Amino acid sequence: MKDLSNRTGLLSQSDIRAISILIREHGGINLGQGICDMPTPDPIKEAAKAAIDGDRSIYSHFAGIENLREQIAMKARDFNRLPVSNTGEIMVSAGSTGAFMCAMLTLLDKGDEVILFEPFYGYHRNMLDLLGIETRFVTTSAPDWEIDFAVLESAITDRTKAILVNTPGNPHGKVWTRAELEQLRDLAVGRDLFVLTDEIYEHMLYDGRQHVSFGSIDGAWERTITISGFSKTFNMTGWRLGYAVGPEHLMAPMGLINDLVYICAPTPLQHGVVAGLQMDSDYYVSMLADYEAKRDMMCDALGQAGLRANRPQGAYYVLADYTALRQRFDGFGDDQEAAHSLVKLAGIGAVAGRSFFRDPADGAGFLRFCYAKKFPELEQACSQLVDAFA
Ligand SMILES: Cc1ncc(COP(=O)(O)O)c(C=O)c1O
Repeated sequence: MKDLSNRTGLLSQSDIRAISILIREHGGINLGQGICDMPTPDPIKEAAKAAIDGDRSIYSHFAGIENLREQIAMKARDFNRLPVSNTGEIMVSAGSTGAFMCAMLTLLDKGDEVILFEPFYGYHRNMLDLLGIETRFVTTSAPDWEIDFAVLESAITDRTKAILVNTPGNPHGKVWTRAELEQLRDLAVGRDLFVLTDEIYEHMLYDGRQHVSFGSIDGAWERTITISGFSKTFNMTGWRLGYAVGPEHLMAPMGLINDLVYICAPTPLQHGVVAGLQMDSDYYVSMLADYEAKRDMMCDALGQAGLRANRPQGAYYVLADYTALRQRFDGFGDDQEAAHSLVKLAGIGAVAGRSFFRDPADGAGFLRFCYAKKFPELEQACSQLVDAFA
């Protein structure tokens, strides 16, 4: 038999899935995979059920049903402060991941370079690799993960075409400030670069922080694709609905790619999220209060257990330094060993830090914990951690 494509050789089973399998075999609570187990809001479920019962099941417009694009346009103007003027600037896709893939296929050719900040979200890096895009990494460091603009500038070459920003960020919860985004705008305009922003955690910012979309900064809109979705905000990771917002000169060609790769996002489910976007602000206020309480519970437990991390500014993960455990316990030589020991000693799944760095050695001192869990399960997980290590 002939060989498979070279690109399949770039992919392997992720550490995240490996820990999920171990947790299933061993028993315990999985704080590894970023899957929120809270229910999808009832109005969304009811509207989707009505669309299914009403046989609204055929292909939709390739960029999404008009009603949903209108709702997203409104949200993008009111919440993100993006200068959206019509629904041609909105493209609904198969999750934000689908929108991200379409954005890359629209902007980038093999051999182009993209700047990626590390620690990074693994899918960003792997999708760039899959398409043969060169990634230039800009490293940020614990505990604050601040951007060093001198390092960023020196990473830009003649082949650099885009910068990828994820705010609030997975895996560390870093939230870009307006001042940082303005500095980024100066650089992007000065060096004529596109900016791709992944803002899927835009409703999860803590301690009174406000989300700032890069595309809302003066002078940024024309060169920016803003990507978000419903997986995290409405607890519906399996529905596969996300979207991109940007100027029509970028969205029109991106729509052609979306049409080719996905045809459209699932039609009846698109009708469901229209109802989600019409829910009032109480929904977001109470979701945020719950996540903030969960963040504090998680960080307190990690601290008592002897792990170190600043409280995340946003999203729902903590990237914690576990290395102090080495002095008191065997089995914490590196991040993979530590992730296994955590399952065995505390019945807790966490992700090995190397998943978020180009060089595994840079992630060897970290474990990532996801606190998007129902309160009783998170409380149980926290007491298991404290009982095992405090
Ligand atoms: C930063 C980031 N972007 C995108 C996604 C995936 O989003 P979607 O379900 O909309 O494809 C995730 C999921 O963990 C994520 O952490």
